[in-house]
Amino acid sequence: MTNPYNEAFDLSINDPDAFWGKAAEDCHWYKKWDKVLDDSNKPFYRWFMGGEINTCYNALDLHVENGRGDQDALIYDSPVTDTIKKYTYSQLKDEVALFAGALSDQGVEKGDRVLLYMPMIPEAAIAMLACARIGAVHGVVFGGFAANELATRINDAKPKVIVSASCGIEVAKIIDYKPLLDEAIKLSDPDSQPEKCIIFQRPMQAATMIEGRDLDWNDVMAAASPHDCVPLAATDPLYILYTSGTTGEPKGVVRDNGGHVVALKWSMKNIYNVDAGDVYWAASDVGWVVGHSYIIYAPLFKGCTTILFEGKPVGTPDAGVFWRVISEHNVKTMFTAPTAFRAIKREDPRAELLKQYDLSNFKALFLAGERLDPDTLHWAENSLGIPVIDHWWQTETGWAICANAIGIHPFPVKEGSPTRPAPGWNVQVVDPDNQPVKAGDIGALVVKLPLPPGSLPTLWNNDKRFLESYLDEFPGYYKTADAGFIDEDGYVFVMSRTDDIINVAGHRLSTGAMEEILADHPDVAECAVLGVEDQLKGQVPVGFVVLNAGVDRDHSEIVQEVIQSVRKRIGPVASFKTATVVKRLPKTRSGKILRGTIQKIADNKDYKVPATIDDPTILEEMEDALIGIGYAKARK
Ligand code: COA
Ligand code: AMP
Repeated sequence: MTNPYNEAFDLSINDPDAFWGKAAEDCHWYKKWDKVLDDSNKPFYRWFMGGEINTCYNALDLHVENGRGDQDALIYDSPVTDTIKKYTYSQLKDEVALFAGALSDQGVEKGDRVLLYMPMIPEAAIAMLACARIGAVHGVVFGGFAANELATRINDAKPKVIVSASCGIEVAKIIDYKPLLDEAIKLSDPDSQPEKCIIFQRPMQAATMIEGRDLDWNDVMAAASPHDCVPLAATDPLYILYTSGTTGEPKGVVRDNGGHVVALKWSMKNIYNVDAGDVYWAASDVGWVVGHSYIIYAPLFKGCTTILFEGKPVGTPDAGVFWRVISEHNVKTMFTAPTAFRAIKREDPRAELLKQYDLSNFKALFLAGERLDPDTLHWAENSLGIPVIDHWWQTETGWAICANAIGIHPFPVKEGSPTRPAPGWNVQVVDPDNQPVKAGDIGALVVKLPLPPGSLPTLWNNDKRFLESYLDEFPGYYKTADAGFIDEDGYVFVMSRTDDIINVAGHRLSTGAMEEILADHPDVAECAVLGVEDQLKGQVPVGFVVLNAGVDRDHSEIVQEVIQSVRKRIGPVASFKTATVVKRLPKTRSGKILRGTIQKIADNKDYKVPATIDDPTILEEMEDALIGIGYAKARK
């Protein structure tokens, strides 16, 4: 049966030039593209070759020129500092142009990298857009990462300038960012270190500045003149966003300018059903891809008002804060992670606080970042009485691979499914031999190449790792590293990752990276870290360590040391709070640790004793160890 979704989807796959060429006409170009899709260097596809564009121009200047200058572009709502500050499109453009001038005064030019280590303040958005204005490539590092992680990113990106702030605020505590930044620079390679750091001093905490290197945000702004937008090739990089890979080395996902503007602007109406002038709120952090795409770029491309929220779903001050923000700013569409709703539901199970607010303009809630569990879906649907829409995407893809595209054609919701592939995403399920499986059968979720505009063209300075990570295993397809199935109605179900990535409170983390840290402890002979189910955060990491022969120390001391090491080297965001010492780890005869089986025991699920297990009695030992740390209650 044909419907607008099928028509859009079929056109996007059968004639991508026509589909995306039309979408691109809605954007501002200095020079029109020569080719919509360039496939002359497969599997490296490029979009809008020959075109010249500026992302910041499309986000700000275009709207000012088209008469939206007095409309709010960005509302900073910060319950943790008791501040609400609004920027119109004209004001935001002026601030961004000035900071672009300030960056240029520091010698930052097109192609130079600028790292940002910022809390959720407007200056983070201003700095990102200022980079885009002059063609500098920004790399935002999430504030919950430790100095060591920041140092790894400095080494890879070699930034000319780092922009940071004196501190962030996490519910009741102040997190000093500046000492972390100073330590990260110290830890990084001398030839990767920035020439200058621009620091935004927050009133509640001023940082100590390093003479000759650190500059005050206000001083550089006072000295700067506004900088105009620089025309860039559509294929020039806009940003690098580091995300967890399967080792301690994060992957630098690259986003280009042209395809990103086109796809994100298109997504606002077609996926989210949002128009220019509407208020759109993504409650995430600028350090994550959701923050890049849907706090900053897409809502501004579309001419919406976006909300930058510095707070948490609970505790700032209570579980009614989301309803307060939606009602006070007239939010039409909201996007967050299921974990945020689980946190609200836990504090206010009957949604009593909702009754205090008028949410009549609120039309749809979108959730992503982790599996949307049916309880949370139904609680949100029943409490809000509006469509609650799961959609599936990744840092790499930049926007939704699968969604209920309500702007094109709303489909009935099926719990556990992010509905159908979005136009542009030819999603398939294949077996290990790259052969399609039957409807309903689980396999690897892959996307037939080319990926649509806005998705990653490569990894920063690392085409080889790009090919190895995503394209080599299933020739002709992009490997999502998620497993799942497509049912008879064409609904996609995303079940689990096929690698060691876990999702903790919607944050993507590598258990392999944590294992590397545990293994570095002098008393640890071997270890395993895996993600176990958690009622609030979806998953949390739990560590198992086997000690070297002859180690005769208090186990709880060793456990505390490994927990502290992960916090120090990855950061508090890892939420690594539980570990235990075990005599041995269950393995196959070939020596592979049976992580899946341990996970099932921990989650209290049925499991089969694997035929290949070396010694089945170890599973009972594991179960006892798990019971000792509060998991696996089935047997006893
Ligand atoms: N800067 C510094 N530290 C940060 C930070 C930041 N930007 N963000 C988190 N942290 C710290 C927290 O303070 C906490 O530290 P602690 O161990 O000392 O308490 C730790 O990192 C873990 O943070 P978090 O995962 O946020 O857990 P939480 O218990 O503080 O809050 C939720 C739980 C569910 C309320 C919270 O995770 C949340 O709001 N999630 C929303 C989902 C989201 O934003 N997802 C992003 C993708 S859409
Ligand atoms: P990130 O790169 O941080 O956005 O994390 C991407 C991963 O999060 C995906 O590969 C999935 O494993 C998971 N994920 C994101 N959205 C969903 C969803 N709607 N349903 C299930 N898993 C999801």
